Amino acid sequence: MSTHEISLTVDGTTEDLTVESRTLLVHALRDDLGYTAPNVGCESGKCGACTVEMDGDAVKSCTILAVQADGSDVTTAAGYADDGLDPVQRAFHDEHGLQCGYCTPGMLATTHQLLDENREPTRAEIRRALKGNVCRCTGYESIVDAVETAAERLRAADADGERPTGDGPADPPEPGAED
Ligand code: FES
Ligand code: FES
Repeated sequence: MSTHEISLTVDGTTEDLTVESRTLLVHALRDDLGYTAPNVGCESGKCGACTVEMDGDAVKSCTILAVQADGSDVTTAAGYADDGLDPVQRAFHDEHGLQCGYCTPGMLATTHQLLDENREPTRAEIRRALKGNVCRCTGYESIVDAVETAAERLRAADADGERPTGDGPADPPEPGAED
């Protein structure tokens, strides 16, 4: 099996690594580099649990070879938190947009791309944007509520000319903490 030297930025850190031709980005992130925010669900592009942002686009990292990510800027759900939860993470917390949390990293990545492109999405637009992210727990209503709330807060911060913050605790809630 041939190998390749690649370099990518993950959550602001430059990472150099050697990968096999067949290595999927999600496995390079989790197994080689230790970025465990993206989850592995179906491994076939159907569930969205592995979604990360790659150069600003939400992508399912099980559908991309690590060599294809060479030179790119990857943000996992863990990369959104700075001094506390970011506004999208905070909105998911406040609106109970998660239960087991397995889908949440992917939901956050997709939501970030949506709200970067559209600060005032309708509920139909939110549902459309998230159609590739499956949640087995919530029934989706609270997730759509969370995205609406995040959008409202980001618009308010934009209007105030503030850098938006989630104004929350340092770490995202543990899976199951919402039960
Ligand atoms: S694990 Fe990638 S889409 Fe399901
Ligand atoms: S799968 Fe979405 S919260 Fe459990």
